[in-house]
Amino acid sequence: MAHSTRCSLNSTAFDEPSPPQAGKMWEAGCPPLEPLSFPLSVNSRKPVLAVEHPLRLEPHPPPAISCVSMTSLGILLSGRGSNFIAIADNIASGKLRARITAVISNRPDAPGIAEARARGLNALVIPSKGLPREAHDRAVAQALRDSGASLVILAGYLRLLSPWFVQQFPSRILNIHPSLLPAFPGLDAQRQALDYGVQFSGCTVHFVDEHLDHGAIILQKVVPVLSTDDDHALAARILAQEHLAYSEAIALVASGNYKIEGRRILPITGNSTAKSSF
Ligand code: GRF
Repeated sequence: MAHSTRCSLNSTAFDEPSPPQAGKMWEAGCPPLEPLSFPLSVNSRKPVLAVEHPLRLEPHPPPAISCVSMTSLGILLSGRGSNFIAIADNIASGKLRARITAVISNRPDAPGIAEARARGLNALVIPSKGLPREAHDRAVAQALRDSGASLVILAGYLRLLSPWFVQQFPSRILNIHPSLLPAFPGLDAQRQALDYGVQFSGCTVHFVDEHLDHGAIILQKVVPVLSTDDDHALAARILAQEHLAYSEAIALVASGNYKIEGRRILPITGNSTAKSSF
């Protein structure tokens, strides 16, 4: 059954959360944007404490800056990082009220991580090569939590996430995809759109669940496909919209001005300014 509940950034406004379940969205409202914490020990599958209320476990004290008023972003990337840069620019210009607590790359040579370093951000390389997926994800999750991140932002992160990772952060991982999902999931979405002959494509920001490009849709932007388009031209126009869409979606999630009805994420109109800034 679909529930409709207003979300709030103030964690005290939330009822006790149920333990996260594999593949299930939060149906009764968005989770509080507290610093990420772990249901399970990082080094073992044994619970650290009783798991009745896993999201309440905070082995470390919360960061000095309250996440109630300032959303903390942990960004994961593998490549050029233009979406990360757009988010960082929007934060720097005051359009997006958030802070970046960590930028993490699985690839040491990712241009995005060099840019994060140049901006003086907490830039971390956690190489994935040769590591089992979940072992790498555990190291990344630990780094995110250590940084005090409250939302995980996938910005061109070329890794499939393990179910373990997704279950740690229910409705707190966002991804952007260069198509109007559910059309054209996976790689080369712009090429897929051209080959199929659609006349409109675009981008989608969505919550991440355990299935590829599948979680509940937060926001989409439409881009017309022109008769002169090749995949580079189409990708460039979609990317320009991605740079607006991601910050807009983060602002919406951070504001708490949305409700969840089944898979539908509906902005609550009347008291949200999230859309007007981008
Ligand atoms: C973007 O097209 C995004 O939609 C997809 O990966 C690409 C990342 O680009 N998930 P960038 O590294 O942010 O420039």
